Amino acid sequence: MSHKIAVLPGDGIGTEITEQAVRVLTALGLDLDVQSAPVGGAAFDAHEHPLPPATLDLARNSAAILFGAVGDWKYDSLPRELRPEQAILGLRKALGLFANLRPAILYPQLANASSLKPEVVSGLDILIVRELTGDIYFGQPRGVRQVEDGPYKGDRQGFDTMHYAETEVRRIAHVAFQAAQKRAKKLCSVDKANVLETSQFWRDIMIAVAAEYPDVELSHMYVDNAAMQLVRAPKAFDVIVTGNLFGDILSDEAAMLTGSIGMLPSASLNSSNQGLYEPSHGSAPDIAGQNIANPLATILSVAMLLRYSLNEAGQAARIESAVQAVLEQGLRTADIHESGTTKVSTSQMGDAVLKALN
Ligand code: IPM
Ligand code: MN
Repeated sequence: MSHKIAVLPGDGIGTEITEQAVRVLTALGLDLDVQSAPVGGAAFDAHEHPLPPATLDLARNSAAILFGAVGDWKYDSLPRELRPEQAILGLRKALGLFANLRPAILYPQLANASSLKPEVVSGLDILIVRELTGDIYFGQPRGVRQVEDGPYKGDRQGFDTMHYAETEVRRIAHVAFQAAQKRAKKLCSVDKANVLETSQFWRDIMIAVAAEYPDVELSHMYVDNAAMQLVRAPKAFDVIVTGNLFGDILSDEAAMLTGSIGMLPSASLNSSNQGLYEPSHGSAPDIAGQNIANPLATILSVAMLLRYSLNEAGQAARIESAVQAVLEQGLRTADIHESGTTKVSTSQMGDAVLKALN
């Protein structure tokens, strides 16, 4: 049976990088039905909505979604519900993509790219498991209202709501514990339990779920300390599990530790392993259309797609080995280029990965 794959390139460099990733995906010889649709600002331009119904339908009916990136400063003045970012938030919510896996790996060939000392980061391999459909991102009520009492009575007030249901915490806990079981068996849950009720509840559930995974060592850390430890001794972490907002912040920090955010893929999964796969970086409108962006994060996202949604671990490994091979050959896009290596364009990098596929 052929697998339906939705390709949503989006804005900025999204088009160029997904083009290369689709070349790699379709070269594997699998039986795939690959269909594209506009999303983000591109969809707003064509259909006056960042997530048009046809795009959402395609995504819903696909085994997996390959997503480029969305956003461009030219949409900054649109009302919030029409901004490109609403496309990715809408897809996460509509498809129930609650489990966001963001690996931060330092490729040995790129050890000099990090802003941290090589001994602090060499061999870095951590996985952030971010809850993606709850927390203050989606909590209701939210908005602007009039303060009813207290020192700011009568004043206008912006507000959002943070909450986590037990089901939401339990299911992300299971994903994180199971990921840790396949790795170094260490799980650090990050929260702000010294201040927030939501976080204390989160921590209690994590401890309860831990009873089902006696082989995994669970620890807890406040988010401010976690932000510090990530730059002080990042290799002390194996898997980090955290809520939507803290995970947003910490995953950017972790990605930058590797110095090559252009290399890092991500997966967002629901309970039926339907997934959305995207590079960890954004749409970089400043370099769009120049054929200089790094397509490797998107190509590696295809590997995650194969592993998690199509159950094709062997094909995923083929892509990952090909990426290792092009790095070994010294090929680098501008973002990771250093002296002694060969600078290549987006499409040349795609060519090289295709050639390195065994
Ligand atoms: C991310 C992005 C999104 C988020 C934005 C674009 C809504 O920063 O995927 O991390 O905050 O989740
Ligand atoms: Mn983010």
